[in-house]
Amino acid sequence: MKLKTMIAETLILTGVILFMSCGGGVDKNAKQVDLQELQKNQPETHGTELKESDIQITNPLNAEWVTFGKNIYELKCQSCHRLTEDKLVGPGWKNVTKRRKPLWIMNMATNVDMMLETDPEAQKLLELCMVRMPNQNLAKEDARKVLEFMRSNDGEK
Ligand code: HEC
Repeated sequence: MKLKTMIAETLILTGVILFMSCGGGVDKNAKQVDLQELQKNQPETHGTELKESDIQITNPLNAEWVTFGKNIYELKCQSCHRLTEDKLVGPGWKNVTKRRKPLWIMNMATNVDMMLETDPEAQKLLELCMVRMPNQNLAKEDARKVLEFMRSNDGEK
């Protein structure tokens, strides 16, 4: 009799502790924190998002930028991107400037995390490649030079 009561008491106590830790207050708090976290992160995630007005496309190509952009490519992008249409880890870069807007390309180079979170086209690529492009964190100026190199790779003069 006594043992049964003890077991019953233990069970009830465990139940109460479980209830207190999972249900009730804790859950509500977690939701509140999540929301605040989201709102707090929002401006930061989009902080370095470029605008159309940040980018100037000029002809003919800036030869210095093409060379500089090629160097960046060889250093930071070549391991995953070919200059042909063939996919390596990421898509090949041939005709990428015909497929995509300059703004979109530069946002991928400067802030890929933001793009993978918010941009449907980038998300499609992620599904296709099954690898998340690591954030390259290129400065705006460097991304612009890589873009110039891509334009040159696509046959622009
Ligand atoms: C570790 C591999 C890796 C490296 C390094 C890398 N990328 Fe990527 N990149 C990817 C993958 C994978 C994708 C497809 C999107 C995804 O899955 O995240 C992608 C997609 C892209 C796209 C879109 C291509 C398209 O066809 O629309 C651009 C632009 C791009 N990367 C630019 C760059 C630049 C610029 C660099 C170098 C500064 C770079 N990437 C370095 C893996 C990489």
